[in-house]
Formats: sequence, C-alpha cells, structure tokens
Amino acid sequence: MELDPAALELRARYALMIGLIQPRPIAWVATIAPDGATNIAPFSFFTGICANPMTVCFCPVNDRHGKAKDTLVNVEATRQFVVNFATETNAEKMNATSAPFPYGVSEFEKCGLTAAPSVKVRPPRAAESPAAFECELVQVVKLGEGPLAGNLVIGRVVYVHCDDRIYNDGKIRHQDLQAIGRMEGAWYARTRDAFELPRPEAA
Ligand SMILES: Cc1cc2nc3c(=O)[nH]c(=O)nc-3n(C[C@H](O)[C@H](O)[C@H](O)COP(=O)(O)O)c2cc1C
Repeated sequence: MELDPAALELRARYALMIGLIQPRPIAWVATIAPDGATNIAPFSFFTGICANPMTVCFCPVNDRHGKAKDTLVNVEATRQFVVNFATETNAEKMNATSAPFPYGVSEFEKCGLTAAPSVKVRPPRAAESPAAFECELVQVVKLGEGPLAGNLVIGRVVYVHCDDRIYNDGKIRHQDLQAIGRMEGAWYARTRDAFELPRPEAA
C-alpha cells in the first residue's frame, strides 16, 4: 500500500498516525484556569525532548469543530502544567478524565482524583500517579488550522515527584512503574514483556 497524505481524508491520516506510532506513552496533564479551576486529561502525542534543559512536549489537537481543548486554553493562559504518568493502576481513572467535560468542570472532582499540591507550579498533581513533572511553558508551536490541527506544547520540567517504590538509586524501575502505552482505538499495551538489548560498541 502506498499512501499520499495529501490525498487522504483527515480521518484516514489520523488512523495511520495512531495505528503506526505505538505504543505511545501517556502524559496525564493537569492544568489550572485563571480562576483556579483545575483540569486533567490524557495526551498520548507526548514525549521527552532533552535533559539539558529537562524538556517535554505533548500535543492537544483541536477538536473536530476546530476548538481548542481546555488543557491548551489553560496552558496558554497560565503557562504551567503538570505531567502525571499513566500506569496499570490508574488506567481507568486516566481514561475517565478524557470525557469531554465542559470548560471549568474539574475532572479531579468528577473522576474522584486526589489533587496533591505541587511545589513550584500552581496546577496540582494527581496523587494516583507514581510520578509527576511540574512544568513551565516554553512555547506552543501551532501546526495547521481547524479540526485536528496541532498545538505542540513544549515545557521545561522544574520539579520532579517520584514515589520511592519506583525509584532506585537514581533510576526508575520499569517493573514497578508498570507504565501503559496507548495503541489504536481503545487498545492499550502493558510494559511487562520487556527485553534487554545492550547498545553495541563501534567496531
Ligand atoms: C489515552 C488517551 C490519549 C489521548 N491523547 C490525546 C492527544 O495526544 N491529543 C489530544 O488532543 N487528545 C488526546 N486524547 C483525548 C483527550 O484526552 C480529550 O479530548 C480530553 O477531553 C481533553 O480534555 P480537555 O478538554 O480537558 O483538555 C487522548 C485520550 C486518551 C484516553
């Protein structure tokens, strides 16, 4: 099959993105509105960028009517967010927070999450996540316009929370983190079937 994105419907392009780029890590992003209302939602167009400075990015796309998601509205207004991590233990709650609640309705309250205070930013973290990155906005890169257009949010990590149960001498134990990955549709992957592949030396 050979496919030219320019000749494809929007939905077909999206299907190729989520079908081929997987499993994707999930940023469970908490934000706050200028009036103090909290918000949390999952985003799997997410990755780390670099450690110097410690930087991450995620991408809230516009909804199918071209409207910005609440997370983006809050990030642009208050320039802070907290990345929580999706795991086997919090998967159902994480998924519940992806429902399209009206702006100003807190998923923390609606979905029974525990908002723990952050140290350096105003949005809280979710106590249900074993780790969290407190972030300050660096830049929003706008990609396209209208339905499903991208808004790449780049943030600097200014504080890290990490449960002692997953932290071992400076390293994270994936066996204890039990991260999950997003696949296509409603499918997710566990990370229990890991294997090691040491990097080669130059010959
Ligand atoms: C696991 C998972 C990953 C998701 N990833 C994204 C994503 O990368 N980008 C996006 O715009 N929406 C994504 N969504 C959908 C948003 O979570 C959903 O639109 C949510 O209502 C946005 O909330 P907000 O309006 O409070 O920001 C994802 C949903 C789930 C369940």
